[in-house]
Amino acid sequence: MITQIKKVDGKSIKLAVNILRADGVIGMPTETVYGLAGVGTSSNAVKKIFEIKGRPSDNPLIAHVHKRYDLNKLVFIEQPYVKKLIKKFMPGPLTLVFKSKGVVVNEAVCGGETLAVRMPSHKGCQKLLKAINLPLVAPSANISKHTSPVTATHVYNDLNGKLELILDGGKCLGGIESTVLDVTDVVPRILRAGLVTKEMIEKVVGSCEIAQHKETDKVKSPGVKYRHYKPKCDTALFSKTQLDKVLELYEQKQKEGLKPFIMCSNDLADKFSGKNLLLLGTTGKEIASNLYDKLLEGEKIADIIIAVSFDREDGVYLGITNRLRKSCG
Ligand code: TXA
Ligand code: MG
Repeated sequence: MITQIKKVDGKSIKLAVNILRADGVIGMPTETVYGLAGVGTSSNAVKKIFEIKGRPSDNPLIAHVHKRYDLNKLVFIEQPYVKKLIKKFMPGPLTLVFKSKGVVVNEAVCGGETLAVRMPSHKGCQKLLKAINLPLVAPSANISKHTSPVTATHVYNDLNGKLELILDGGKCLGGIESTVLDVTDVVPRILRAGLVTKEMIEKVVGSCEIAQHKETDKVKSPGVKYRHYKPKCDTALFSKTQLDKVLELYEQKQKEGLKPFIMCSNDLADKFSGKNLLLLGTTGKEIASNLYDKLLEGEKIADIIIAVSFDREDGVYLGITNRLRKSCG
């Protein structure tokens, strides 16, 4: 199969809709990461998604809908606070987990009773969702466990030959996946941290819990138990208090004839002057936006990425730190 990359416009959206209506799958831009999308009411399309990604069959998919789509068609909205969350954060990088009405097929939710739904804010994605007017289920458009793609080229590098079309909507500005929030209970619970933070949710609804995902817990968001986001080169992760160790490993690798790169925030650039660097930016927002892009750049040019962590978990750093541990730890 030949995989075409086409800029999102009226013509490519029509092509995408035709492919999707015929149970095909496409690469789709969103404001977080690129998705591998298929129609959520088609078992055939959903099976293709799992096959193409090599995704474990117990890890459910998120349904994506346009901003005027009536969520009541798909799920039971039971908790009163949900309205406030929808008003404040949708469309945007927030996924809500509800009790499903079963419109999205069983294969997509892995036989579970809940359905995760999100409304991406990416304009091209909104246009596509409006044109098809059906829920599109989409995991991140990478081979399972690899770093999530934030450009159409990243999708192509992973999935070339496995799908007909990738809609190119530019670089994803968010850069890490949506926050997944369980809203089936009296208090909402973050299953996966992201750009919509605990602090932001608390401001709107008062309280918000964070799922702990201990080994012994019944896993509520299966995706979080898997090894994830791994670039194809070696990696190492150090705390900000271990800069001497970072330099030691860097020099050791160079002596071995290898090409190490240090990945860190811009404020540490001085400490590593003259070294190969992958700089992530200064603010949490910039760092989230650049993280996967730099990991995917790094895997092409480095033998090892030596990452320096941020040593904080407030706000968006919870999501960033979680990804950094899984990709480089
Ligand atoms: O930003 C995003 O969310 C991206 C873009 C493409 O929308 N999508 C994405 O999908 O990250 P994926 O499949 O890579 O991750 C979905 C996460 C997994 O951790 C999965 O376990 C969780 O959402 N999830 C999906 N459905 C769920 C459900 N019904 N209950 C609990 N967790 C669910
Ligand atoms: Mg993923």
